[in-house]
Amino acid sequence: MTGELSPIDKAKFVAAKKAAEYVEDGMRVGLGTGSTAAWLVRCLGEMVRDEGLRIKGVPTSTRTAELAREVGIEVISLDSAKWLDLTIDGADEFDGNMNLIKGGGGALLQEKIVATASDQMVVIADIGKEVETLGAFPLPVEVIPFGWQTTQALIEETLVSMDVLGRTSTLRMNGQSPFVTDEGNHILDLHLNRIGDARQLSMVLNQMPGVVENGLFVDICDVVVIGYGDGRVEVRDINAGTIEESMLDFAEPDNLFTDLVD
Ligand code: A5P
Repeated sequence: MTGELSPIDKAKFVAAKKAAEYVEDGMRVGLGTGSTAAWLVRCLGEMVRDEGLRIKGVPTSTRTAELAREVGIEVISLDSAKWLDLTIDGADEFDGNMNLIKGGGGALLQEKIVATASDQMVVIADIGKEVETLGAFPLPVEVIPFGWQTTQALIEETLVSMDVLGRTSTLRMNGQSPFVTDEGNHILDLHLNRIGDARQLSMVLNQMPGVVENGLFVDICDVVVIGYGDGRVEVRDINAGTIEESMLDFAEPDNLFTDLVD
């Protein structure tokens, strides 16, 4: 199985596998969305099946909920969990302060609600997601369908006074139709190139009528687990101020990729 994975998938997998070590018996765990988070869900499913791990998972999208059920994780709603021990999720970009851009998969609203309702947020990402300054990845903003073009115009107008390099935005599409989120909204992708003040931009965007939430995660993430294509994993913990590196050994007989099929 190892040989079938590209370096980028290996990087995502090792990050997910390492982050799964944060999950303990009895925990209520927020389950992220995206290709990296999917590896995590599969790893946890394997732990449930083979090690008897008992957890309750709160998914951040319908597709994560489907996968979690498929691999045997008990799925509950955020409202029945009330508060979570931990959320593990991917990211589109992370910077040196562990601020993030998320929402490339369109699940940013549930992702932010779930991560904020957790004692700890662990981000899993391949090293390609690290940036010096956020903004090369288009910033997703979830807007309600009613008057979305007016909201878009208001956002673009407001960007003129923001510390960003680009000021255009596009409506995310799903084929010929606007993309619709799990909450029935649309996504505007803001092409900013560089975000000078993520906190300020996030606050300003969220004050606009029509904007539901934006994909900037500021001061939410506690730990970033970074995977490399050669199996190395780096764990950066912002609260402990530590950086630890380890290596996942793919050559072991009970190879970690067993039973994991994308
Ligand atoms: C989903 O809406 C996003 O926030 C994802 O977490 C993010 O796009 C990372 O996805 P990948 O792990 O697929 O890169």
